[in-house]
Amino acid sequence: MPLVEWDSSLSLNIPVIDEQHQALFRLLSKLVDAAFEQKELALDEIFNALNDYVHNHFSFEEKLFRQFNYEHAEEHKRHHEGLKESLKAYYEKFSQGNLSAAELMEFLQGWITGHIAVEDKKYAEVLRTKINNLFPK
Ligand SMILES: [Fe+2]
Repeated sequence: MPLVEWDSSLSLNIPVIDEQHQALFRLLSKLVDAAFEQKELALDEIFNALNDYVHNHFSFEEKLFRQFNYEHAEEHKRHHEGLKESLKAYYEKFSQGNLSAAELMEFLQGWITGHIAVEDKKYAEVLRTKINNLFPK
């Protein structure tokens, strides 16, 4: 099982967002533990936590897009909606007993690292200063 870790190559140099992404990776590492231990209960808890996270984090980003009139907001939101749909589908599979933590982890790791490295970096280029001014460290 590959180790799931946030590293500086995924940094947007926007501390308020990087911290949220790091929290997501902590959730993913719990998923790895669940995969190793094959705990169904843990997987259910992780789904709940993921849903909360996705709702809060995506809303947070999308609010900033509106506030700063980000030109690719609609495209970015479609990526977010896509993940929400995928999570629903995975939860369905999980409810039917057809999903392993390993499968969910592999999907999420790929989606999240790809999303941060491509889509999030795009908005970071244009909104970094504005967001950092709004959330000074
Ligand atoms: Fe995003």
